[in-house]
Amino acid sequence: MTYRELYRRGVTALENSGCESPEPEMWELMSFCFGISRYSPGLFNDEEPDEEKLRSFERALSLRAEGRPLQYITGNWSFMDVELRVGEGVLIPRDDTEVCVRELLRRLEKDCPAEIADLCSGSGAIALALAKRYPRTHITAIELSDKAFEYLTYNINHNGAGNADPVKGNILDLWQDYPEEFFDAVISNPPYIPSGELPSLQKEVLFEPEMALDGGNDGYDFYRIIAERWISRLKSGGYISLEIGEGQGEYVSALLEKSGMTDIRIIYDLGGLERTVSAVRL
Ligand SMILES: C[S@@+](CC[C@H](N)C(=O)[O-])C[C@H]1O[C@@H](n2cnc3c(N)ncnc32)[C@H](O)[C@@H]1O
Repeated sequence: MTYRELYRRGVTALENSGCESPEPEMWELMSFCFGISRYSPGLFNDEEPDEEKLRSFERALSLRAEGRPLQYITGNWSFMDVELRVGEGVLIPRDDTEVCVRELLRRLEKDCPAEIADLCSGSGAIALALAKRYPRTHITAIELSDKAFEYLTYNINHNGAGNADPVKGNILDLWQDYPEEFFDAVISNPPYIPSGELPSLQKEVLFEPEMALDGGNDGYDFYRIIAERWISRLKSGGYISLEIGEGQGEYVSALLEKSGMTDIRIIYDLGGLERTVSAVRL
């Protein structure tokens, strides 16, 4: 079968599986399996791939049609210009998270020797986006899951981020390892989906680790931990930037206010949805 026929067949298979963006995803798979992009000359010259490549394409297509996220098939993804390795066991970074990172960059204003904690670091997307932009900062990237921690360590090393350190641990108690008023900033995209809503998530999301999504009964477990424990580790005048889900802004703002934070702001994404709460410690 020629590349042209494989492309058409793949698009149809993805459409039938309910994939929302079959054409762009098909190009990703063509590039991953055959090393060709839509700009490759000769793509439509009715050439045929060899048997081995064809088998890898068939496998990738069937995994995608089953609902497995594209990023878990290709094994990589980029976030704010940082190339990341991803796979099963680690959350695929979302573009929305850029709102939370940009808000902290805005608060920090310039690269300076700041100590930053990235809580619930996952693949290291946030830590590395900060490390790359502000090389004079030092980022402690904390992650509990074994699998996610492997990706975090690999991504930090692979990106040569000497100013970021992966730390394996539970944010529930790890705060005690740091002195009071140690950090200039705390940033986090914690799990925030209420447990009862997990089964109704999109098919693709169900392939992602529950531990990365489950925010407890009401979705606020991690915000309470951060507000009650980690804010004491922030310097006076230090910043916090937390990703939130739609509708969570008011509750998280109230938690931060109760914990002695001021200048509390809710930041919206381009679609007008609440995405981040940021604040300054009194
Ligand atoms: C929503 S994901 C965010 C990942 C990454 N920061 C991002 O934006 O792509 C939340 C992460 O928190 C981790 N996690 C869950 N419970 C944790 C805990 N108690 N302590 C540390 N990390 C935890 C999960 O394994 C997951 O990697």
